[in-house]
Amino acid sequence: MKKPISRILVINDEKLILRELIKGLNAAAKSLENPLGITFSGVTTAREALQTIQDDGDIQSVVVDDTLYTLDTPKNGGKGSRNLQMSALKLVQEINRFRPELDIYILIAQEKEDEVVDALFSETVDGYFYREERDYRGMYRILNAQLQEKARTPFYDQLKNYVLMAKDAWHTPGHSSGDSVRDSPWASDFYHFVGEHIFRADLSVSVPMLDSLMEPSGVIAEAQKIAAKAFGARRTFFATNGTSTANKVIFQTLLAPGEKLLLDRNCHKSVHHGVVLSGAYPIYLDSSVNKKFSIYGPVPKQTLLEAIEEHSDAQALILTSCTYDGLRYDLPPIITAAHAKGIKVIIDEAWYAFARFHPAFRPTAMEAGADYATQSTHKVLSAFSQSSMIHINDPDFNEHLFRENFNMHTSTSPQYSMIASLDVARKQAMMEGYKLLSRTLELAKEVRAQINSTGVFKVLDLPDLLPDEVKSDNIQLDFTKVTVDISRCGFTVEDLIRELFERYNIQVEKSTFNTLTLLLTIGTTRSKVSRLYDALMRIAREGRAPRRLYRIPEIPRFTELKYLPRDAYYCGGELMPLLDEQERLNDELNGRVCADQITPYPPGIPVLVPGQAITDEVVQYLVGMLRSQKRVEVHGIVYDGYLPCLRLLTAAEEKGLKKLVK
Ligand SMILES: Cc1ncc(COP(=O)(O)O)c(C=O)c1O
Repeated sequence: MKKPISRILVINDEKLILRELIKGLNAAAKSLENPLGITFSGVTTAREALQTIQDDGDIQSVVVDDTLYTLDTPKNGGKGSRNLQMSALKLVQEINRFRPELDIYILIAQEKEDEVVDALFSETVDGYFYREERDYRGMYRILNAQLQEKARTPFYDQLKNYVLMAKDAWHTPGHSSGDSVRDSPWASDFYHFVGEHIFRADLSVSVPMLDSLMEPSGVIAEAQKIAAKAFGARRTFFATNGTSTANKVIFQTLLAPGEKLLLDRNCHKSVHHGVVLSGAYPIYLDSSVNKKFSIYGPVPKQTLLEAIEEHSDAQALILTSCTYDGLRYDLPPIITAAHAKGIKVIIDEAWYAFARFHPAFRPTAMEAGADYATQSTHKVLSAFSQSSMIHINDPDFNEHLFRENFNMHTSTSPQYSMIASLDVARKQAMMEGYKLLSRTLELAKEVRAQINSTGVFKVLDLPDLLPDEVKSDNIQLDFTKVTVDISRCGFTVEDLIRELFERYNIQVEKSTFNTLTLLLTIGTTRSKVSRLYDALMRIAREGRAPRRLYRIPEIPRFTELKYLPRDAYYCGGELMPLLDEQERLNDELNGRVCADQITPYPPGIPVLVPGQAITDEVVQYLVGMLRSQKRVEVHGIVYDGYLPCLRLLTAAEEKGLKKLVK
């Protein structure tokens, strides 16, 4: 197993003192226990310090002298004067802004203690040392202990300890540490394929030393507390049913039936399901659309600000940032406007869990002031699938309500390896996230250049991706999501995906009819990049005739919501076909109300939600999708034999429901 390396940077402008400090601290690190591979190095200026922190991903902590001076070059052979380079306060702020995961200590002179501590009071400083004490072993012990604290994985450690204790299992799960399958002629293959520890670590709430996800007070509570610190939240909760569930939990906590929620129509389906479950009154905001590539983007800032003004009685606003395609809102002004009206802000960061650990991706939702952020840690960091986190900064957080809703959606038998993977993913992000993300960004740059160098495939940059209506909204691109225009390669997207998979062993993340999206993560390697380049170059050299961009019809704008989605959804309803007997659009649908959510994939945006009025335009769009020669799934359609139908509210049901007032 590879041993960790941890460098601690000491910043002191007096060369002799710095040399003595480094020597003393390195000697202490050598003679005392040093499991994290700590070594010390030093610089004499704030500029060098910031440069080193940027260049060296192995820096884990910094020790900053409270005042850093430079000596002016002496003129005429006289003595130089001392100028302040940068105050400790400024330097700490810069370091925190750049790499908030670093531990920061201040070296102070005893006589200036109060002044320095007061100045740094509101900054994230982990501790102070008296310069004159020269207690290098004592300093090392503290720095080492603090780093070990950060590198601790309380839940994973306990899970491993428990497994190694090899207790006899008289409890669930039924495979009993794998004993039921290990020697089975029918099932042992599975045991050997996934490995014995998957079984041994698959435990249950019957083991009290592993805490309870539903009421954590031990190792899970500790792991969540460290995660909150790492992600810059007041509270963090681990969710083992993905961000899909996390979104629903938050809705049910913040929204009573009938209360308003502002949401992007392009939000993930879990958000729309959450609307039904919570009984919220949704105000759908139409997403921007890139007409050339048929890609849906963020809601225009102006639309958002107007909606916040118009619906100042809303309880919450939810947006996705960044989107699947990597488009990231300019969150601070939007959050400020929402907060000014007392609206809570939830940001779905399903695709952005790593962002805290590299300045290129910040600010995160929490840093921008959001009240809640949901992250699929499993999508872009090293956690197992379904393992997500909910970060909370809401000053009015109602823990009791949240807990009730969390427990309503959480299995009483959560998968413990998932919880452990969240603990480990957090540790990894904190200890080497910056370094790995720096590498990922470098690889993203290379991939982009290589793909463009094929002369056939073209990576879409921010200006290509941005719909016109959001061009001046200060939207940023997450470069780890690479969207490639494939229209000039001559293949259809289905054929290209098949070719990449069958001939080149490459599986991509997602596609539209004109584009492929490649997802780079901290697990992307240079050899994967080379193989991708090789494959695309070979395909490009086949020299097939390019085809025109395929345009899918634009989704009709939101019509009218007549009833609460929850009320409509729980009606029995009746089926009505989309086409009449002559196979023409069924005009009886016009003006009726849908009971289901109808979502074509792509683009994955609901055309109808429960309670929404149907128009001829909507019917035409849906029939167009069903008749399309392209592979389009339309979720929510009911088939009566071969007849595609919609479930509608009956006249009697409509009569019994309360109409929504705007
Ligand atoms: C924007 C968005 N939110 C939420 C989710 C759901 O996340 P999970 O797969 O963790 O349930 C997804 C999944 O693709 C998503 O794209």
